[in-house]
Amino acid sequence: MKLSRRQVIAAGAGAGAYVGFGLGAAAFAAGETPITKLIPSSGEALPVIGIGTNRWVAGGSPAEAQAFRDVLKVFRDGGGRVVDTAPSYRTSEEALGTAIDELGFRDAFFLATKVDRSEKQDGIARMNDSLVKLQRESMDLIQVHNLRGARVQLETLLEWRESGRIRYAGITTSRVSQHAEMEALMREYPLDFVQVNYSLQDRAAEERILPLAEEKGIATLINLPFARGKLFKAVKDQAVPDWATEFNCRSWGQFFLKYVVSHSGVTCAIPGMSKVAHAEDNMGANFGTLPDAAMRRRQERFFADL
Ligand SMILES: NC(=O)c1ccc[n+]([C@@H]2O[C@H](COP(=O)([O-])OP(=O)(O)OC[C@H]3O[C@@H](n4cnc5c(N)ncnc54)[C@H](OP(=O)(O)O)[C@@H]3O)[C@@H](O)[C@H]2O)c1
Repeated sequence: MKLSRRQVIAAGAGAGAYVGFGLGAAAFAAGETPITKLIPSSGEALPVIGIGTNRWVAGGSPAEAQAFRDVLKVFRDGGGRVVDTAPSYRTSEEALGTAIDELGFRDAFFLATKVDRSEKQDGIARMNDSLVKLQRESMDLIQVHNLRGARVQLETLLEWRESGRIRYAGITTSRVSQHAEMEALMREYPLDFVQVNYSLQDRAAEERILPLAEEKGIATLINLPFARGKLFKAVKDQAVPDWATEFNCRSWGQFFLKYVVSHSGVTCAIPGMSKVAHAEDNMGANFGTLPDAAMRRRQERFFADL
């Protein structure tokens, strides 16, 4: 079942009222409903704020492992579901598999990993290894990482989707130089997801990838929503403008994330966050209202004038 563009966007409008975030995990427990958007190929709803885990490493100190568990708790309390990892993120898959098991959160998350091999058998071995590390027999989503061996790996991913080993198949890039190749694959394959770079500082995906995703009914995950943290440096110690409260935004993290997820072609942003304070702040963007078109232009002008 593919949903029409109107149905997908309408799902994003059902957010609850803002209650004030960035105040600690308890603030999420007020019974508010996260903002969600629908995966066009299935109609499944996903909260708009996910999490990227490329800085998560297994086998660190007990304090580090505790910090990851605390971040996952805040993320879940803040209505988060989409967790993105990859076999190339050092020991991230193992760290996640362990933390999720210890927390008893096996069914709480929508788990996405990647495959990064050129040959078919190498790809299969790599994905089987990811399943072991993540302690899963099946995955929600596997994506071809940076389009490597895309046609070969997509053959396997579509077979695995057919047999129920994965629920969704996708491709990723974080480089504008790969957008043309991504676009060609989006036209050629029945993809459920694409993952692409998009932020207030890097808006190239608005040109072709996001409109094509809407046209073809492909869900989008957004990586680098903070341009690897550079957006925070750009605003330095400036205060968030008063008018941002009009879309229930109280921090720069929420300002940047609400800009990204208010694009009609965006399903879910996956900010990297390995600190509890960052997770508490960012999960505030999962609630309240989103900037409308006029407010988005205001955000763009504000950022350009910095
Ligand atoms: N080709 C691909 O498939 C690809 C490429 C790149 C990334 N990705 C995915 O996208 C995810 C996000 O990318 P990323 O982590 O490199 O970049 P990012 O999300 O743009 O930025 C993450 C940085 O922002 C910091 N941060 C987060 N929330 C903050 C807040 N509220 N206030 C201040 N600083 C804050 C993080 O710090 P802390 O970590 O200290 O909390 C981290 O240094 C990755 O984890 C990965 O899952 C995929």
